[in-house]
Amino acid sequence: MSTTTATAASAWDAAERMTRAELEALQLERLQWTVRHAYENVPHYTRKLDEAGVTPDDIRSLADVRLLPFTTKEDLRQNYPFGMFAVPMEDVRRVHASSGTTGRPTVVGYTESDLSNWADLIARSLRASGIRPGMKVHNAYGYGLFTGGLGAHAGIERLGATVIPMSGGQTARQVQLIQDFEPDAILCTPSYLLTIADAMEAAGIDPASTSLKVAVLGAEPWTNEMRVELERRLGIDALDIYGLSEVMGPGVGNECVETKDGPHIWEDHFLPEIIGPDGEPLPDGELGELVFTSLTKQAFPVLRYRTRDLSRLLPGTARPAMRRIEKITGRNDDMIILRGVNIFPTQIEELVLGIEQLTPHFIIELTREGRMDSMTVRIERAPALERDVCEAAAAVLAERIKTHVGSSVTVRVEEPGALPRSEGKYKRVYDLR
Ligand code: DLL
Repeated sequence: MSTTTATAASAWDAAERMTRAELEALQLERLQWTVRHAYENVPHYTRKLDEAGVTPDDIRSLADVRLLPFTTKEDLRQNYPFGMFAVPMEDVRRVHASSGTTGRPTVVGYTESDLSNWADLIARSLRASGIRPGMKVHNAYGYGLFTGGLGAHAGIERLGATVIPMSGGQTARQVQLIQDFEPDAILCTPSYLLTIADAMEAAGIDPASTSLKVAVLGAEPWTNEMRVELERRLGIDALDIYGLSEVMGPGVGNECVETKDGPHIWEDHFLPEIIGPDGEPLPDGELGELVFTSLTKQAFPVLRYRTRDLSRLLPGTARPAMRRIEKITGRNDDMIILRGVNIFPTQIEELVLGIEQLTPHFIIELTREGRMDSMTVRIERAPALERDVCEAAAAVLAERIKTHVGSSVTVRVEEPGALPRSEGKYKRVYDLR
């Protein structure tokens, strides 16, 4: 792992230096503004708050956020495309959309001020990751309707770094330009960085020999085991960036390179909560669904948006006043229920990476024979190892899954290159039932 100089506190934003009390005072002021703004300008929120018997004047403390009704993806779908916008269309400078697996995409919008805040928060995230003005940043998040590419792009420029706007895909070209342009940092999904590292090796390039020192990875769940693997193979610091389109895009939170202990939520712009399956708020430290209320967004304010992401709220460390989230375990809707046992793909990733003879290239298939569900982990053999060595390692994996996750699964060894490679968000689970 390379050593990156710790963040100089003098370069932090004022909000990163606030005390918890100062931050909470700012949050309350902004929460009150947001609730009034949403109530007065978005018919959906007017109706929802009226139905709940809540008015903007009822928000007198941060805890009063709990009086507000939740917002779900379904609410956004029903107001497709622009029904949740809180400003006239002529004040919207940009829209993004997330495809989702079924149905209508969800569309989000930004005013000029929203775009500026977003760029500031990405710049803050990159700084927290150890990236500095003057560095070159290879941006391999997809450009277009996805918030990753253009969102990161503006923040790289805002930081005062040089952006290389690669977008996703064309892996051979990515490798070539990393060699030629010598970027200091790369931004992409963790699974795509793995694809790039493999492509480097296939081209006879040692991934640890490049100019890259930092990777800022997100848009999909990944484990600490994957961090260790990527840091070792590429000789980098790998940091976790979190966000979602509905709440802003990338940069809702980011890890700090000094601690690498889960993303700090940029709480001057977002108020996080954790709720249980019944919608009841849970205390900090408990595992549940992340919920966000935006605090500064003009075009697309969200009140208690249910993310479906599972995590815990933890106390701040490198930024003491701002809480962290534990690295995300997965999404509600990624959870596999196999014969009554709940399984997250990240649990399998953790176990796979704990066995040296296995590659990190695996997918999960769910099938049904008769009334019996079964799960197969298909995993690629390491090119340098004999098949029987990999078969033995696969048997160890099946055993560990049984012990740690509590389910019997089949592990099948595939030839190198047999499984699809990531070009962005990786599709890990195939439900063939
Ligand atoms: O993926 C925004 C983004 C772009 C984040 C680039 C980070 C980097 P969506 O397409 O709306 O937005 O997908 C959001 O992706 O609810 C999580 O389930 C997942 N996700 C995003 N970041 C992380 C992360 C972008 N660091 C959904 N760890 C979210 C785990 C993540 N899951």
